[in-house]
Amino acid sequence: MARLENLHPTLKNLCDEYLFARGDSDHGRIVTRLSSWLDEHPIALDELQEEALAEQDESYARNQLYLCPETGVVLYLMVWRPGQGSPAHDHGGAWGVVRCLGGTLTVTEYEIVKDAPESGRATLRELPRVELEPGSTGTTCRPGHEIHSIFNTGTQTAYSLHVYSREITAYRAFDLDNDTFEIQQCH
Ligand SMILES: [Fe+2]
Repeated sequence: MARLENLHPTLKNLCDEYLFARGDSDHGRIVTRLSSWLDEHPIALDELQEEALAEQDESYARNQLYLCPETGVVLYLMVWRPGQGSPAHDHGGAWGVVRCLGGTLTVTEYEIVKDAPESGRATLRELPRVELEPGSTGTTCRPGHEIHSIFNTGTQTAYSLHVYSREITAYRAFDLDNDTFEIQQCH
């Protein structure tokens, strides 16, 4: 699956676009550039390989499409059954762009009101929710806006393409009721 020759041509071109964009020291500008690029180069679900669309029973599916050995940028196709989602979390410092390819996803961003990393405590404030429909691109994890949740609140399976600056090895998962967080390791 994660081989360049198997990758959709538009996604290969996206990796090339990042090769040009990555020299920018302003990561927010890179996120905006890739987001606009995806808007101009749409990808249809039926153009992707069947394995990319695989679902999971226990949680949303995170199907890796490609990890660029040169830049470290990584592409995932995530599949969300109705009700599946990812509660409030950050990306451990990696930026990200998400494009909805099917279904509807509800994205909620949070801002930090109080942060005490050494004690595992953080107080978040919820910001207005955004509905991502097919063909809309969101900057779910741009500098200054790192914390978010994503849920499929619709009635149909949802599909989204995610572009991350690098593989996420550890991230913070927030407990909004208790104003705490835990560091989670990715396997
Ligand atoms: Fe995320």
